[in-house]
Amino acid sequence: MILLGVNIDHCATVRQARYRSYAQTEGGPVEPDPVQFALQAEAAGADGITLHLREDRRHIQDHDVWRLREIGRTPLNLEMACTPAMIAFALKLKPHTVCIVPESREEISTEGGLDVVGNRDRVKACVEAMNAAGIITSLFIDPVPAQIEISARLGAPWIELHTGAWANAWHTPQRAAEFARLREGALAAHDAGLVVNAGHGINYANVTEIRTLPHVHELNIGHTIVSRALFTGIVEAVQTMKSLMNP
Ligand code: PXP
Repeated sequence: MILLGVNIDHCATVRQARYRSYAQTEGGPVEPDPVQFALQAEAAGADGITLHLREDRRHIQDHDVWRLREIGRTPLNLEMACTPAMIAFALKLKPHTVCIVPESREEISTEGGLDVVGNRDRVKACVEAMNAAGIITSLFIDPVPAQIEISARLGAPWIELHTGAWANAWHTPQRAAEFARLREGALAAHDAGLVVNAGHGINYANVTEIRTLPHVHELNIGHTIVSRALFTGIVEAVQTMKSLMNP
């Protein structure tokens, strides 16, 4: 069984598009509520919920994270940058998992994998702090041998392979080569003792290929589920994705 982590960021994106200037993040006219979205996703079979508290707070707000921590029923995966402020936040929050992602203000969502090789000392400090606190660290990396090797050496128990390049190549001749890179990455990571997750750009069409990735533990999927839920509702969107992942 491959697990489904539902990323709720883009539900918050819709809320912020209208209610960014409001002090409140729920209740009254403020909608949609990403926490209610998460609860419905859980009720429909989501195995976990992911949310990304960005430095610029462009979608998820601090209050969303604390509310979900209190009332969510599945493991909470906090996506975050590797900064002292976010490390301190995570140590207070104590989520099940933190997923360390690169963050630059310009990008619309996370565009590339974390450069663990180039940020070795910062990542190491974060992994050690989380390990000591009993929080699982997952490093969001491209399927590059050097990044996989160092992730294992720094003591991170999990990685999330960045599937964006493969998803972008879906309609191009490069798709097979991108999938082969992911496949080799998943095999190498598993051999190095890492738990292997995958995410970014997965949708209802390409999930039929990514589910064949060896050793994959969990897929983290957001945009396509939020998009489909506009038409079908959250329950159908989550259940259909789960059945495509585990036919
Ligand atoms: N995994 C990570 C680390 C992400 O940053 C994101 C969002 O960019 C996702 C998964 C989900 O990607 P998508 O919204 O394209 O499904």
